[in-house]
Amino acid sequence: SRVGAVVPAAGRGERLGGGTPKALRPLAGRPMLLRAVETLLSSTLVSQVVVAAPPTLVDVVGQLLGSGVRVVPGGAERVDSVRVALDALDDDIGVVLVHDAARPLTPAKLVDAVATTVLDGHPAVIPVLPVADTIKEIDADGRVVRTPRRDGLRAVQTPQGFRRDILRAAYANRDLPVTDDAGLVEALGVPVTTIPGAEEAFKVTRPADLVLAEALLAHSLP
Ligand code: C5P
Repeated sequence: SRVGAVVPAAGRGERLGGGTPKALRPLAGRPMLLRAVETLLSSTLVSQVVVAAPPTLVDVVGQLLGSGVRVVPGGAERVDSVRVALDALDDDIGVVLVHDAARPLTPAKLVDAVATTVLDGHPAVIPVLPVADTIKEIDADGRVVRTPRRDGLRAVQTPQGFRRDILRAAYANRDLPVTDDAGLVEALGVPVTTIPGAEEAFKVTRPADLVLAEALLAHSLP
């Protein structure tokens, strides 16, 4: 089965600040989105990449990424952007990776590991890491409801990998307030497999994340 990747890159990046849409913010001189897409294309398993760009920047992003990458206008929420990009994949793509533009230092070997695990017969695969902080569940007034045991919690990264038919069915089931694609698949009752994530695959969300990413690039990565 051919593997395709969709990259939601239409977020405004308000928590990051700085005005430019987050995906186009440079990291050591090159836009985060370009780094994320190049990593996906560097995988021999990935044969198509579709990017959901901010609607006003579809042409700019298309020129940045070149003719090998399809660029579509994203939507108001991440789920809307993913939905549009999924519809733009070639018909013969049977496995889909969904990868945030905002994870520019994701190692290629994580892309391969997720894709391989889906191709081996797992319908939904997510990379995860243990959480460093204790996590509290709170109510609307900010009072603590519950403290789940930390050793049973994981932080979830991308790329997340899916059989395409299952992801399509998950996205047909609208209006669920989920923050990751696997959450939609879980709602269908499909088992979700975890594999070890990578520290470098962290999401650039706040200004300090940008500093960390540039420091990592300067010190260790090519
Ligand atoms: O906002 P957050 O950091 O969770 O965004 C994760 C990814 O989803 C980013 O790559 C962002 O560009 C993308 N996104 C999108 N469309 C939106 C909101 C976020 O493609 N409306």
